[in-house]
Amino acid sequence: ADEKAALKERIRDLLTAQNAVLVAHYYTDADLQALAEETGGYVADSLEMARYGTESSADTLVVCGVRFMGETAKILNPEKRVLMPDLGATCSLDEGCPAAAFTAFCDAHPDHSVVVYANTSAEVKARSDWVVTSSIALPIVEHLAAKGEKILWAPDKHLGHYVERMTGADMLLWDGACVVHEEFKSFALERVRKLHPDAAVLVHPESPDEVVDQADVVGSTTQLIKAVAEMPNPEFIVATDAGIFWKMHQLAPHKKLIPAPTAGEGATCESCAHCPWMAMNALQNLEKVLQTGDQEIQIDPGVRERAVLPIQRMLDFAR
Ligand code: 13P
Ligand code: SF4
Repeated sequence: ADEKAALKERIRDLLTAQNAVLVAHYYTDADLQALAEETGGYVADSLEMARYGTESSADTLVVCGVRFMGETAKILNPEKRVLMPDLGATCSLDEGCPAAAFTAFCDAHPDHSVVVYANTSAEVKARSDWVVTSSIALPIVEHLAAKGEKILWAPDKHLGHYVERMTGADMLLWDGACVVHEEFKSFALERVRKLHPDAAVLVHPESPDEVVDQADVVGSTTQLIKAVAEMPNPEFIVATDAGIFWKMHQLAPHKKLIPAPTAGEGATCESCAHCPWMAMNALQNLEKVLQTGDQEIQIDPGVRERAVLPIQRMLDFAR
């Protein structure tokens, strides 16, 4: 414990010396989330992380999360240095949507507006008309559908299908998925719900349809955290990455939080819904990157110039 306290103290000093600030996602390690809050940084969902970077006066943003979050920060703040504890922290949605194949898909459907989820590379964003996150996908697609636009959606088919069902928009879907949320099992969830009849079911929309269908609240990480704080239920069954429990517990310490099952019939799983790439962020490599500066996000200026437009469009819409 003393060692950890000393490590945190060294990181604090490095942050101050470099006018650097931590921007962490709710799925990262609890120590990182706590340190971000203690040092004047921020813990948030992916939309708020993007917005926070543009409002911060720090010279360096240290993005604790996955690669697309660091890239979005750099695209929006090219004058700032953007570091990550490990640039290898990717995302199965990003990996499953290579820019060349995606461009060909868009070229084959020129009459569609291109809406991409934030969990994509800078190159894919550069080919899009709109970027969305899970917290703002529904109102943006509703807005486009009301104008009669047909939509090409990538990469998450589960979120895309949910948006399609909710808005009635005409959507063509890319075939991508989040390896973490895809593991939630609907039959096992039904069993857990029967065991906890007073629990509200909270589901991130990257989950399969049959899991989303059982939800009382479907939303982004911030929206699910708000539900725990605001809903009267004493218990919550939560279908998203277990990293979120730290903030939920902080805001609602007396409520019981039950992880939705990722394994077979009737089983519950205490810790297995956890993104392997989010888990690559730790205090140790955070200290290291602040010492060496070697995990710095770089974006090709031509790509940046195009990618900033659909991201800024999202931020303006969200205002
Ligand atoms: P949020 O925008 O809801 O934080 O989601 C990001 C993410 O990667 C979920 O898996
Ligand atoms: Fe990507 Fe899923 Fe990890 Fe989120 S939880 S970063 S969508 S792999």
